[in-house]
Amino acid sequence: MPRKVNYGIDYDDGYDDDYDDYDYGYDVEENVKEPSLQDTIKCGVWRCSVCTYDNDDTMSSCDICGILRSPSVRNGTYDEKRTAPFKFDVPSPDDLVSNGLHSSEQHAKAKIFDFKSSRAPSSRVGKNEAVKELSSAKRSDSSHDSTGKDNHNGIVFSKNLEINTSSGFKASDKSSASMAKGRVEDSDGRSVSINMCSSGQSSSSLMPKERTDMVEDGSSLTHGGEGHNLTSNLKNMTLAAKSGNSKDIKANSRAQYKPEKWMLPEKAEDSLTQLNLAIVGHVDSGKSTLSGRLLHLLGRISQKEMHKYEKESKLQGKGSFAYAWALDESAEERERGVTMTVAVTYLDSKRYHVVVLDSPGHKDFVPNMITGATQADAAILVIDASIGSFEAGMDGTKGQTREHAQLIRSFGVDQIIVAVNKMDAVEYSKDRFDLIKSQLGTFLRSCDFKDSSVTWIPLSAVENQNLVVAPSDVRLSWYHGPYLLDAIDSFQPSSRDFSKPLLMPICDVIKSSQGQVSACGKLEAGAVRSGSKVLVMPSADIAIVRSLERDSQTCSIARAGDNVAINLHGIDGNHVIAGGVLCHPDFPVAFAKHLELKVLVLDGATPILMGSQLEFYAHHAKEAARVARISSLLDSKTGKVTKKAPRCIVAKQSAVIELVLQEPVCIEMFSKCKALGRVFLRTLGRTVAVGVVTRIVEELV
Ligand code: GTP
Ligand code: MG
Repeated sequence: MPRKVNYGIDYDDGYDDDYDDYDYGYDVEENVKEPSLQDTIKCGVWRCSVCTYDNDDTMSSCDICGILRSPSVRNGTYDEKRTAPFKFDVPSPDDLVSNGLHSSEQHAKAKIFDFKSSRAPSSRVGKNEAVKELSSAKRSDSSHDSTGKDNHNGIVFSKNLEINTSSGFKASDKSSASMAKGRVEDSDGRSVSINMCSSGQSSSSLMPKERTDMVEDGSSLTHGGEGHNLTSNLKNMTLAAKSGNSKDIKANSRAQYKPEKWMLPEKAEDSLTQLNLAIVGHVDSGKSTLSGRLLHLLGRISQKEMHKYEKESKLQGKGSFAYAWALDESAEERERGVTMTVAVTYLDSKRYHVVVLDSPGHKDFVPNMITGATQADAAILVIDASIGSFEAGMDGTKGQTREHAQLIRSFGVDQIIVAVNKMDAVEYSKDRFDLIKSQLGTFLRSCDFKDSSVTWIPLSAVENQNLVVAPSDVRLSWYHGPYLLDAIDSFQPSSRDFSKPLLMPICDVIKSSQGQVSACGKLEAGAVRSGSKVLVMPSADIAIVRSLERDSQTCSIARAGDNVAINLHGIDGNHVIAGGVLCHPDFPVAFAKHLELKVLVLDGATPILMGSQLEFYAHHAKEAARVARISSLLDSKTGKVTKKAPRCIVAKQSAVIELVLQEPVCIEMFSKCKALGRVFLRTLGRTVAVGVVTRIVEELV
């Protein structure tokens, strides 16, 4: 049976370059100068301090973003801030207060952070011996640390650190020291503290909606006597070096990391390479049917099971969904005939252990599709060849073919198979196939897919044509290319970061009735084996790997690229959450809510304004976010700044922006870890931009 993944997001080599080289065919503003003071001062207007829109003098609030007019602004004059590149790095109402803004500004700016709160009640955490509550959290040395949370409670993981606590105690017990090892002392012996400042909000925002619900259920659980709020333990953690820059320290030590011998694969161990294969495409194009059919043909679904699916689906009047039922397990999915969550199944080709990530096509479940596709090394883009259906999928506003293709490419996937399915419905017409190839091919090229990396295959999942052997139907005699399984074997294996410290974004969490907890996902770097110590972020708990499972089979070692379930012990199950990351104990992933991104606004997307509220996606984390600053527009080809502090970014434009998330997420700069540094911005049910993290403005861990 497949493992279903509720929600979640990966990436490739050379993406950075590709991103820069991405030819989106948009016009670049040439010779754009930053406006001079003279340019910007006009009589009868006042410029909004947030989105920089020039409002009529009669307006008391900004016409674009609703911000109240600053009392310091007078007709035709600007305060100092306005002539300098706009700076707005204080993301919450609390922070505004700490900045000493005028009350009207506070009010106005607070308004734009008025996220709808869908937070789960705070969960309670157990007694964590490595964590001690502190009253005087040490501040990050970041110049952006203007959060004004000094008065909040803090928690510090410490080794040999002198720490003030609200209750007056010092973190000094042994487990604290062992847990924080490496996190508190860098390779040069400089000590580093990790502060966690409580703000009383839940960290469950890191989790998918479904998972959030799960935490809500367990939120009343209190372990131990301390009853810390989960959030106060998880969020607002700050890694600060006592001396020097903590980011440099981390970078240095990462570079110095030496993998152990067992981490590196030996060819003889396993002749098949792992391939994480996302099956994507417009709703109802036949992704699950194709996946189910492949599994059946390759013996992963027995005849008996298939017979059961056929019988049951017929009884529900859904006979045509028999193969899809192997993947669509839930009653709702079966009843609606729509995949809602990603199904993870496994099959072997001649060359690969293939992890099949059957994604939902319906637009409502794009966030789930992102979760699955983020792990992909390669993808099959399934197209419904039927008359009208291909066209519906290509529709710019309603179709998902384009959106999925763009997302997949921005995840770093550069090799795809376009499976032109349901060819039986068009009599295996070569003309239809050619038309689809021509129209979609143009679009794929515009998304930076190289022709040589795209394989086009006409097939029929229902009639079993061109899947695991060459087609038998004479109407396909015009086709001379590879069959589907053949084409899967032609994918190039992805390069893997075996020799880097462990990083596994947690895609899903499985809890057994016996209280065991497993973190599922794809290892992006490093390796683990039974007995390994792992750092579970963002809770920063250390857990021990009890066992590893791949495709329901126990395995001894998992390495970069492997998609596994890691059974952990020595940790409160509530601290293992989707959107979190398993790390090497000495190399914690960053935890942050204020990020600088390089983004590309997608073709047809609504413009992004200063103050725009968006949904932020990165690996398996999802969070509400707000555009705090649009620093510059970029030339998509050269990456050079073409305009500073623009008012908005429109479709096909690239820009550097600062984003402030409602809650912090586990994240890395793209230059450090591609998988954890890619982001997607969505609003109103559409993906509006793709991008990469270029800087963590304020790192909390
Ligand atoms: P979502 O996951 O909800 O996006 O749908 P899907 O892409 O997984 O499609 P699914 O496999 O559920 O199939 C949708 C419908 O298409 C079902 O009725 C299938 O029987 C039908 N279908 C799938 N493949 C073929 C095919 O090769 N030919 C024909 N004629 N119908 C097909
Ligand atoms: Mg499906």
